[in-house]
Amino acid sequence: MDRLQFQSRSTYNAVMSAESDRPNAAQIDYWNGPAGDAWVSNQAEMDGTLAGLVEPLLDAADLAEGMRAVDVGCGCGATTLALRARLGDGGHATGVDVSAAMLAKSHERATADGLEIDFLESDASAHAFEPNSIDRIVSRFGVMFFDRPDEAFANLRRALKPDGKLVFFCWQARSENPWMTLPMAAILPILAPDATAPDPYAPGPFSLGERDHLRGVLQRAGFGEMSIDDFAYPMNITGSLDDAVAFYTQRGPVQSLFLEADADARMRVLAVLREILAPHHDGERVALEGNTYLVTAAP
Ligand SMILES: C[S@@+](CC[C@H](N)C(=O)[O-])C[C@H]1O[C@@H](n2cnc3c(N)ncnc32)[C@H](O)[C@@H]1O
Repeated sequence: MDRLQFQSRSTYNAVMSAESDRPNAAQIDYWNGPAGDAWVSNQAEMDGTLAGLVEPLLDAADLAEGMRAVDVGCGCGATTLALRARLGDGGHATGVDVSAAMLAKSHERATADGLEIDFLESDASAHAFEPNSIDRIVSRFGVMFFDRPDEAFANLRRALKPDGKLVFFCWQARSENPWMTLPMAAILPILAPDATAPDPYAPGPFSLGERDHLRGVLQRAGFGEMSIDDFAYPMNITGSLDDAVAFYTQRGPVQSLFLEADADARMRVLAVLREILAPHHDGERVALEGNTYLVTAAP
C-alpha cells in the first residue's frame, strides 16, 4: 500500500485523568521523565535493536485490511506505523501511551509519513475504550507496566470484539535475559549495594516473565484461548563498546540508578560496564542473550 495515499494527518490527543489518585502514577512519572526522553533521543537506535520483533508481532496478529487496531504502549511509534500500513484505506490505527514525549515523536513520524493514526496520551489500563469495538490490540513491550495487571488486561479485553485478539511481546523473567542481568549484577554493588532481590511481579520489563503468572493474569482478566510461545531475541546493541555502555547508562533501570550517583560512582560504573561488555563485543556490536514471550489471547 502506498503510504502517501492517506489524505489526513495523524492526530494527538491528551486524555490523561487528573493528577491525583491516578493508577500507575509511578510508571507514568517514569515514562515522562529521563526514561521517555532517552527513548526519544535514541529512537532510531532503539528501533534498530527491536526491529526484528515488529513483523512477527503483526504476523501473529493475523491482520486484515479494514480492521480497527490499537497499539498499547506505542512509545515512539515504530510498531504503530507498521500496523497502520497493514490495515489499508478502510482500517483504523490508534497508538496509546502515557509518555507525552514519546507520543509527540510518534505523531511527528506518522505526519512525516502521511499516515492517518490517532495517538492518545492515556493510561491503557483505565482508558475508556468503546466496548467490543477493536479487532486487534497489539503491543511490543508496552503491557508490563501496570500496577494492577488483572484489571488492566480486563480493560483491554472489554475493548475487543468477540472475535478480536490481543497479541503482544513481553520479556521472560530476568534469569532468562542476560542482556539485563549481566550489567545489573556488575553495577549494583557500586550503585545500590543494599539492594534486595526485586519483586518479580512489580511493574517493569520483567513483570510478566513467568509463564504461569502471565497465564493467571490473562485468565483472571477473562481471556479464554491463549498461547504463550517462547521467542528468543538476542539483544544486538550496534556500535562501539562506548555505545553499548551508553545504551545501559542512558536508559532503563541502570539509567535510573546512574542518574542518582555521584561522579566517582559514575566513573566506576562506566569502567565496570566496559569490562563486562567487552567480551561480548565483536567489533560492530554487543550481542547478549534475550528471551521473550509472544502471547496471543482471545476474549
Ligand atoms: C519499553 S517501552 C516500549 C515502547 C514501544 N512499544 C516500542 O516497542 O518501542 C514501554 C512503553 O509503554 C508505555 N506505557 C507504560 N505504562 C503504560 C500505560 N499504563 N498505558 C499506556 N502506555 C504505557 C511507556 O510510556 C512506553 O512508551
